[in-house]
Amino acid sequence: MNVLKLDDFTVEEINQILDLAEEFKNGKQVDYQGKKVIANLFFEPSTRTHYSFDMAALKLGCKTQNFDAGNSSLKKGESLYDTVKTFEMFGVDALVIRHVENEYYKQLEGIHIPILNAGDGTGNHPSQSLLDLLTIRQEFGKFEGLKAVIVGDIRHSRVAHTNFKIMQRLGMEVYTSGPLAYKEEGYNYVELDDVIDKVDVVMLLRVQHERHAEEMKETIQEYHEAFGLNQKRVEQMKENAIIMHPAPFNRNVEIADDVVECKKSRIFKQVQNGVFVRMALIHMALSENG
Ligand code: CP
Repeated sequence: MNVLKLDDFTVEEINQILDLAEEFKNGKQVDYQGKKVIANLFFEPSTRTHYSFDMAALKLGCKTQNFDAGNSSLKKGESLYDTVKTFEMFGVDALVIRHVENEYYKQLEGIHIPILNAGDGTGNHPSQSLLDLLTIRQEFGKFEGLKAVIVGDIRHSRVAHTNFKIMQRLGMEVYTSGPLAYKEEGYNYVELDDVIDKVDVVMLLRVQHERHAEEMKETIQEYHEAFGLNQKRVEQMKENAIIMHPAPFNRNVEIADDVVECKKSRIFKQVQNGVFVRMALIHMALSENG
């Protein structure tokens, strides 16, 4: 089983993955007794996704290999396909891959072990979306009828692209907001202050400077004032509404320092859920491949 994009899964299958993640959260034990090896191939920086996939594999009793792109034969011109094929030939059982190119996995059709996509360019971030969905389901017990606004650099965000589509498929009403320069056509753009008191989920995003051709127009203070979640905006949120962020976050840019761990914030719970979701994905991938 590959997990490349959530479009490949039905709503029923998405809920089954979340159910399995919930079982791991509640103590389900699976032990591969060191007989399976997961290779984490990150061609782009990562803290949460990389090391929570690693932690998930270790908790399942797998061994892991962690590819160091900066000291690899990429520096000698080796291609993505040849690098990945090399790990397949080492005998690893599944691959976790993050790469800067959208749909990099289309170059990997000659690979015959499971690939778990840990983020492709501005395209997909399936494991992040699944942990976001798990966090929302734990909070509200459902998706249907919930309202969410995703705020920030929508155009360059694989989290926004993945979540917007899957949340709509699950029956949520989803808006996006943020600087017009980062607006995505067809993504239900609104002014944050017009919906802040109506939504159940406020999901903030970092400005993805590394994917920009030009400098941001606003100063940090201007950005924070116009689009940042500060205490004043938190006070306008519904009583049971929650704050989410895939992280890494920039304190006092898209989110005020004192909001990061406020009562409504589920940001670190998302990180915790990431391990359970990734345990579910690894276990499903290994189970289906014998
Ligand atoms: N949320 C997320 O993908 O974080 P990392 O870039 O640290 O993996």
